[in-house]
Amino acid sequence: MSDTKQEYLWWQKGVIYQIYPRSYQDSNSDGVGDLRGILQRLDYLEWLGIEAIWVSPIYPSPMADFGYDIADYTGIHQLFGTMEDFDELLAEVHRRGMKLILDLVPNHTSDQHPWFLESKSSRDNPKRDWYIWNDANEDGTPPNNWLSVFGGSGWEWDDTTQQYYYHAFLKEQPDLNWRNPEVQQAMMNVMRFWLDKGVDGFRVDVMWHMIKDKQLRDNPKNLDYAPNVDVTYNELIPAYSTDQPEIHDIVRMMRALTDEYDKRVIIGEIYLPIHRLVTYYGQNGNGAHLPFNFQLITMSWDPQRIATAIDEYEGALPPDGWPNWVLGNHDNPRIASRIGIDQARVAAMLLLTLRGTPTLYYGDELGMRDVPIPPDKVKDPQGLNMPDLNVSRDPARTPMQWDDSPNAGFTVEDAEPWLPLPGNYKRINVMNQREAKLSMLTYYRKLVQLRQQEPALHIGNFKPIHSDKQMIVYTREYENKCFLVMLNLSHRPCYYTPKGEGLRGKVIIATEPEREGTYLENTLSLGGDEGIIMLIDK
Ligand code: GLC
Repeated sequence: MSDTKQEYLWWQKGVIYQIYPRSYQDSNSDGVGDLRGILQRLDYLEWLGIEAIWVSPIYPSPMADFGYDIADYTGIHQLFGTMEDFDELLAEVHRRGMKLILDLVPNHTSDQHPWFLESKSSRDNPKRDWYIWNDANEDGTPPNNWLSVFGGSGWEWDDTTQQYYYHAFLKEQPDLNWRNPEVQQAMMNVMRFWLDKGVDGFRVDVMWHMIKDKQLRDNPKNLDYAPNVDVTYNELIPAYSTDQPEIHDIVRMMRALTDEYDKRVIIGEIYLPIHRLVTYYGQNGNGAHLPFNFQLITMSWDPQRIATAIDEYEGALPPDGWPNWVLGNHDNPRIASRIGIDQARVAAMLLLTLRGTPTLYYGDELGMRDVPIPPDKVKDPQGLNMPDLNVSRDPARTPMQWDDSPNAGFTVEDAEPWLPLPGNYKRINVMNQREAKLSMLTYYRKLVQLRQQEPALHIGNFKPIHSDKQMIVYTREYENKCFLVMLNLSHRPCYYTPKGEGLRGKVIIATEPEREGTYLENTLSLGGDEGIIMLIDK
């Protein structure tokens, strides 16, 4: 395989940045972020050096699950603006040489979507079969034992038509029946609508949920379930309700349609173990371009486990499969809250030096932490449904902290932000960090820029060098340039002595900037929570 001849595309070379639109920037003083707000902040994103923006759903929605319950796939929710605002945003993103990725939610609609309203109107409505309807068991119980991710049964009884419908998430989010060709066609039309407008791709919500077992067999018990700790959904293993073989026909269909357009991308949201995940690349590259790799979110922060996962992933990728890594998103606690602010710097270096497209979650570049939300202010249905488990996703969805003015520049002083800001925003904000040499933002920007400048980092080879209970060491190499990355995931100093003739190199970026520009040789030592990127002397 000749690397030099291969053409690499924007979604391989660049960094993706996720915006949760409710929380990025409010432009009309209602306390909720919107499209014109994002437009105002494009200078910042360009300055940061990111390639593509993925925006969580912006479509008309009753907001039962904050936009992931869509009532019109080809409209814009008035909270976020108008179609003109969208068109302007897209044009402006493109003018700056960046890309815009939309969130596509094909697994379910809102219960207020006209399709569902028709479907539930009568058993013989032409759209009845667009959703998953089934009779009750003789004793009136639901057709099978499938559970909702957000708690309780996955089935909801409909009094009017005397049947149950299936919803993997809220009862306000009925699952579409993807075995029905009309549903497939309708969603392809949705994709076409946005692709024709020029959007650069889709992040496809819960891709592994989209097709369910035809026979609707009961899911088996999860023997590792920990009551009162795990969410109730984990009582069962979703063997029949997710990751069914037929999903690959659907993904292939989405890919084929996308391939009719130039250089667009399909990213799949998929929480599965590595060996299942990589099947979503399809065969000979006919599946998703980037099945999201959430290993760094779902694993414990243990250097040996992470090093093993990197190797398993690299080893399992199909020959034409491009890797990707994600540190955070709107469904999980923020990285700085999971592993602490010092390790968050190490994590950033890992994310931005691994082989494969990195996805950044807004605010992580400032070291934003999860914000405690008082019980009476909780908005997330997952949090509201399971109040004792501390699983609300609100803490990771709070407004972006732009400056030290009231409401952090997210919205005007007399508006109430939809989720509260933390007291620390006066210190932790873009304005403060932008010019500060030692800030997280400055550090992130350096990492993003180095990655963009150096082919070794965005398309180079990855080679694992060493890992133990404290550290991970690897190289990234392209043509005659080789970077060594050494990351200390522990709080104590660590030492690495390269085998062979020894090695000398210059520190290019370090979590402790004082080290940058210095030379290291032979035994490399790092303080606790340190990481370095070193250019090896040849
Ligand atoms: C995805 C979204 C999440 C949403 C769920 C149901 O996991 O990321 O926010 O609640 O799908 O649509």
